[in-house]
Amino acid sequence: MRRVTENKLVIASHNAGKVREIGALLAPYGLDVVSAGDLDLPEPEETEDSFIGNAELKARAAAQASGLLALADDSGFAVDALAGAPGIYSARWAGPGKDFGIAMQRVLQEMAASGSADRSAAFICALTLAWPDGHVESFEGRIDGQVADAPRGQNGFGYDPLFIPSGYDQTFGELEPAAKHAMSHRARAFEQLIAACLA
Ligand code: IMP
Repeated sequence: MRRVTENKLVIASHNAGKVREIGALLAPYGLDVVSAGDLDLPEPEETEDSFIGNAELKARAAAQASGLLALADDSGFAVDALAGAPGIYSARWAGPGKDFGIAMQRVLQEMAASGSADRSAAFICALTLAWPDGHVESFEGRIDGQVADAPRGQNGFGYDPLFIPSGYDQTFGELEPAAKHAMSHRARAFEQLIAACLA
């Protein structure tokens, strides 16, 4: 396991919200953080078939193009009755209009059509650190739960209104953001990365 000795890191994302969130999580570790957008780096196509594969592809591309240590994340919603779909296609199911109401209805329709009564699902987050010499370290966090009968709540984003974490009655869309952030797939992946490479 390689530890971080660099003092600068590029976040391999053009999504300002993601960059802000990851920047805040890294703030205690004294890293000077820039984004792929700041450096005008190209956005590679996500051609791999796993979360870690796509996180590695994005992190390696940013490290190579910038000469800096790079961090990428790839995440999604995986429904057991749909063999893990939408999975790596979670963003794409929302279509060009990024309408997650449509994406959540598709999940519910495909679950009904599957004939399965299994409502198990998980959010998954892969994080990869890539060094300019090609070395990578990857981590995966997940949170398990159930698909609600219908979307509920206005908090969060994406599929949050459809997901009830195990041990709770409320969806991520209904829970306080702080409660979600304390237990989320992203938090769990970050805990591993920080313990292994930064703490
Ligand atoms: P990415 O930006 O390619 O990693 O896309 C991840 C997609 O997965 C997002 O567009 C969301 O639809 C979904 N997703 C990932 N994390 C979450 C979450 O915490 N809540 C709700 N949806 C999420």
